[in-house]
Amino acid sequence: MQRSLFLLVLLGQCFFFTCYLYEYRFITENKTWHEAQKYCRENYTDLAKVFNMADMESLYNLTKNQREAWIGLYNNTDGKMSWHWSLPGVEYIENNSNWNLSEIHSNEGQGNCGRDRDKWGNASCAHGMWFICYDEKKKGNKTLYLIKDKANWTRAQNYCRYNHTDLASGTDQVDGNEMKDLKISHGERMSVWIGLFRDSWRWSDGSDFSFRYWDMQLFNDTQSNKTCAMTLLNRSGKWSSDECGKEKPFFCYDDKVILVKENKTWEEALYYCRDKYLDLLSITNLEDQQWVQEKAKNASTPFVWLGLRYTCTLGFWFWVTDEVVEYKNWDSDGTTDGCDMSAAMESRGKHKWFSKLDNNLFNFFCYKN
Ligand SMILES: *[C@@H]1O[C@H](CO)[C@@H](O)[C@H](O)[C@H]1NC(C)=O
Ligand SMILES: *[C@@H]1O[C@H](CO)[C@@H](O)[C@H](O)[C@H]1NC(C)=O
Ligand SMILES: *[C@@H]1O[C@H](CO)[C@@H](O)[C@H](O)[C@H]1NC(C)=O
Ligand SMILES: *[C@@H]1O[C@H](CO)[C@@H](O)[C@H](O)[C@H]1NC(C)=O
Ligand SMILES: *[C@@H]1O[C@H](CO)[C@@H](O)[C@H](O)[C@H]1NC(C)=O
Ligand SMILES: *[C@@H]1O[C@H](CO)[C@@H](O)[C@H](O)[C@H]1NC(C)=O
Ligand SMILES: *[C@@H]1O[C@H](CO)[C@@H](O)[C@H](O)[C@H]1NC(C)=O
Ligand SMILES: *[C@@H]1O[C@H](CO)[C@@H](O)[C@H](O)[C@H]1NC(C)=O
Ligand SMILES: *[C@@H]1O[C@H](CO)[C@@H](O)[C@H](O)[C@H]1NC(C)=O
Ligand SMILES: *[C@@H]1O[C@H](CO)[C@@H](O)[C@H](O)[C@H]1NC(C)=O
Ligand SMILES: *[C@@H]1O[C@H](CO)[C@@H](O)[C@H](O)[C@H]1NC(C)=O
Ligand SMILES: *[C@@H]1O[C@H](CO)[C@@H](O)[C@H](O)[C@H]1NC(C)=O
Repeated sequence: MQRSLFLLVLLGQCFFFTCYLYEYRFITENKTWHEAQKYCRENYTDLAKVFNMADMESLYNLTKNQREAWIGLYNNTDGKMSWHWSLPGVEYIENNSNWNLSEIHSNEGQGNCGRDRDKWGNASCAHGMWFICYDEKKKGNKTLYLIKDKANWTRAQNYCRYNHTDLASGTDQVDGNEMKDLKISHGERMSVWIGLFRDSWRWSDGSDFSFRYWDMQLFNDTQSNKTCAMTLLNRSGKWSSDECGKEKPFFCYDDKVILVKENKTWEEALYYCRDKYLDLLSITNLEDQQWVQEKAKNASTPFVWLGLRYTCTLGFWFWVTDEVVEYKNWDSDGTTDGCDMSAAMESRGKHKWFSKLDNNLFNFFCYKN
């Protein structure tokens, strides 16, 4: 009884250590990109990576400085390009059966943006095409919108991000039933832009976040000696690239979550975190889930413990940090209520949560200072 009262009182509260999983630092010293990377890795976690527009805003809001500043994005000059989905958090999973590379329409050209017809194909990003926006607000189950307006890929992405959420991204959206219905209701076959693009840019810490905020008026992806990315603080933070040897101030990020690669039972993990760091991790929204799932990929066990446990006496799941269990990411078959059950995230695949017996030995996430 006392516990449930405690939970109610804490509703809507935000602890000093659980409001955020990472923070940005602006360093005013002028350094080359590689010196800046060394500085960030030694004193924080790494050069700043940016997950979405909200991240970009908090980074931009940190300083009144109006100059250029390095971020953690660099060009992988070995020429290897990788495909990404435009919608932050949707992972691109290589699968050749989604593509038909022999289907080439001469007017679409070939390039670094992805279009959908019967299968996916690459087309020149400058080509004008109708496009499909995804809207997370789900008006009466509708999430996909066909925009019958010929736009190049960048313009289509802008339109979707402004008026909806993003270009349609991921196989669930692009190959799902709603998309099939949309194509059938249109009648004839059509080519449309979807949220696929490829580039050779990489984040310093190795994560494959797909967010890009290039200033298309200034950024030119063919000047091959400008291989480090900067944010232009006098152009609302939009990005361009410059020669890595130039000296600029820079942004670092400081991770507040650590993946402990030791194999422990849930209870051992809890005490380990409380002893050495702060606590086992809570995940209370989609952004937090997406931020940590990137890290789960480095685990040495197939699952990673979270601070979510089932109480047998009261009959509900609770976060050990006392946060309210509102956001959930259970696998559809993975949850069993029961005594001695705690939650663990899949290290790979869709990073869903599963209930697991406490005595399993898994890696785990802790909050740290
Ligand atoms: C960095 O360089 C700029 C321009 O060269 C200069 O105005 C600024 O004072 C320098 N900042 C520091 C901390 O040295
Ligand atoms: C870490 O920060 C300290 C103090 O700000 C600085 O003196 C040191 O050079 C930094 N480390 C690196 C590798 O730059
Ligand atoms: C950034 O600052 C603007 C204006 O001051 C504010 O509206 C916005 O909420 C801030 N964003 C973040 C993520 O802090
Ligand atoms: C980035 O690298 C690719 C090859 O890996 C090259 O084609 C492109 O021009 C480079 N862009 C910049 C801005 O350096
Ligand atoms: C690849 O895509 C096809 C068709 O969309 C699907 O049936 C298959 O399961 C996918 N394979 C993998 C390994 O995801
Ligand atoms: C790929 O496109 C070509 C040309 O339109 C077509 O003949 C072929 O059947 C397509 N292949 C698949 C697997 O859809
Ligand atoms: C895309 O369209 C916009 C506006 O219509 C234009 O300003 C921009 O230059 C175009 N970009 C490309 C790559 O064609
Ligand atoms: C939305 O979909 C669900 C299940 O697919 C269905 O039960 C519900 O009636 C649908 N709502 C509307 C407004 O179409
Ligand atoms: C949003 O939609 C309206 C109406 O379709 C369109 O005129 C406008 O250009 C769109 N906004 C952006 C930023 O594309
Ligand atoms: C980008 O840079 C290349 C090489 O310096 C140049 O040939 C090209 O015209 C530039 N493109 C734009 C749009 O400025
Ligand atoms: C980079 O390329 C530009 C234009 O091609 C040239 O002016 C500049 O000297 C080059 N810088 C280096 C360090 O090679
Ligand atoms: C943890 O267990 C995995 C297998 O589940 C094993 O591959 C790994 O080496 C173990 N790690 C440690 C530190 O014992």
